[in-house]
Amino acid sequence: MGDLARVGMVGLGVIAKTHLEVLAHQPRVSLEFTADPHRPEPPVFRGARPPHYGSLAAALGEHRPDLIVLATPTDTHADLVVQALERSPARVLAEKPLVHDLASLARLRSLDEKADVRGRVFTAHHFAFSPEVRWAAEQLAEHPEWGPVTGITSAFYDPYVLLREKASASYLSSWTDSGVNQLSTLARFVEPTALTSARQLDDGASAWCVCEYRSRGTVGTARLRTSWLTGSSSKETALVFGEAGVEVWIDHTAMTGFAARGGELLATYGNDGRTPRKVAHYRPLYESLLSGSPDPVLSFDTAAALTELHHAAPPPGTGR
Ligand SMILES: NC(=O)c1ccc[n+]([C@@H]2O[C@H](COP(=O)([O-])OP(=O)(O)OC[C@H]3O[C@@H](n4cnc5c(N)ncnc54)[C@H](O)[C@@H]3O)[C@@H](O)[C@H]2O)c1
Repeated sequence: MGDLARVGMVGLGVIAKTHLEVLAHQPRVSLEFTADPHRPEPPVFRGARPPHYGSLAAALGEHRPDLIVLATPTDTHADLVVQALERSPARVLAEKPLVHDLASLARLRSLDEKADVRGRVFTAHHFAFSPEVRWAAEQLAEHPEWGPVTGITSAFYDPYVLLREKASASYLSSWTDSGVNQLSTLARFVEPTALTSARQLDDGASAWCVCEYRSRGTVGTARLRTSWLTGSSSKETALVFGEAGVEVWIDHTAMTGFAARGGELLATYGNDGRTPRKVAHYRPLYESLLSGSPDPVLSFDTAAALTELHHAAPPPGTGR
């Protein structure tokens, strides 16, 4: 990305606030412009307001950013990635999920030769950077004697029951929104290979999916539950190492974890509560992206593999 990064921020909704908060503390970054058709004014960034536009196309008529960040509704990502690739030489960080359907993934792939999609497009798989996820991945790496991960259960609940319309407009369905977070988290621990069963329930407000994976030479299954039918957020993942009798529990809401074997506590992870959860995800994500060698979990190839798994689930209302 070079020594300095001029960033164009597209979409100024909920998650853009976290991007801007984290970027403001990156000394090598400047905010070149913002773009959002529904916001008349740009936000204050380091005490000043950047030039603001009603569209990415208008902004690219005036600016040459090094990095374009797309924090817009999921079903706008593909068109905006294509615009960014065709109208600028910038790299692109798209919010997750990269695309909302497989046709959009094929469209991006078809541009690779012309526009270096694989070198320029990154996806903000932010959950993979959450501190408890990185801690659990370190535990795995440090304890080969635990053997393979023989089972995983993950449950992601978001309190969108009363905000259903807005949540559907921005995130499409609970599985579209959270399934990709669960799959990118799994990818820190095991190699996800196939969605062996998948049901979107409650008109897309919930889902139940089963993902097969490989871990240390054996095949295991991950049970993935997502739902918006709750008044509060709660997200947890449990990893079982059946051969060693070890379990690792991580709480993504509290950013905590522990490992135990039967009644014996083996390891714990906690935090001092000073870093808000989303900042704790996006700060290391940006440090990695802005470094010379971004983490592979941000790459187009990872996004493409996860998209294919993610979209093996039939759309809501198809009765499977
Ligand atoms: N909210 C979260 O906690 C969160 C966390 C991680 C990732 N995400 C992802 O980030 C994306 C955005 O989510 P959000 O919660 O910020 O949504 P949001 O609805 O709060 O904000 C989206 C913003 O994009 C703007 N917009 C719409 N079309 C646009 C266009 N063509 N060009 C420029 N701006 C446009 C809207 O006016 C709105 O201000 C989604 O893909 C979501 O999955 C959200």
